[in-house]
Amino acid sequence: MESIKIMVDEHTNIRRMLKVIREVSYRIMTLGEFDVEDITRIIDFVRTYADKHHHGKEEDILFATMNQELEKLSKSGAITGMYIEHDNGRLYMMNLEKAVQAYNEGSDEARMDIIANAICYADLLDRHIEKENTAMYKFAENMLKDSSKSYIEVECKKIEDEASESGLQDKYLALLEELERKYL
Ligand SMILES: [Fe+2]
Ligand SMILES: [Fe+2]
Repeated sequence: MESIKIMVDEHTNIRRMLKVIREVSYRIMTLGEFDVEDITRIIDFVRTYADKHHHGKEEDILFATMNQELEKLSKSGAITGMYIEHDNGRLYMMNLEKAVQAYNEGSDEARMDIIANAICYADLLDRHIEKENTAMYKFAENMLKDSSKSYIEVECKKIEDEASESGLQDKYLALLEELERKYL
């Protein structure tokens, strides 16, 4: 499925940003050089590209369809687990934003909260992505009816096209490349 291929590519891009997040956290821990404004830009990448765009397609289209059609899988709690992990990620980002704010207001202790929430997010998302790539997406491709797959393809393409028109993917891939050049 083309829509799933695109989501797997998005996972690759999100994982690239997770590497940046780890490196920035390491620099904060070792008192290396980092720009606190970059953390705010990473939060924007996570919220807009990873969450709104990518998780949006999963929650509203792919997993919603799987929940309706694949009763056994739905009852197992596996799909609910994906929604819960998205929510946990949102909590880490909210805490990370608060920690950045406290750091900007002069709290040295806030460095600890920046590192803790950034690393928890990176670890959560990495494991989450692995489950989707190796299990959830495979279930979708192997178990859904052709008509459901067509529905997912059409709906995801609409979102993809709208995002392209507004320049969303270009904007966040450029940010990713800039931060990779700066930190990795
Ligand atoms: Fe997900
Ligand atoms: Fe995903």
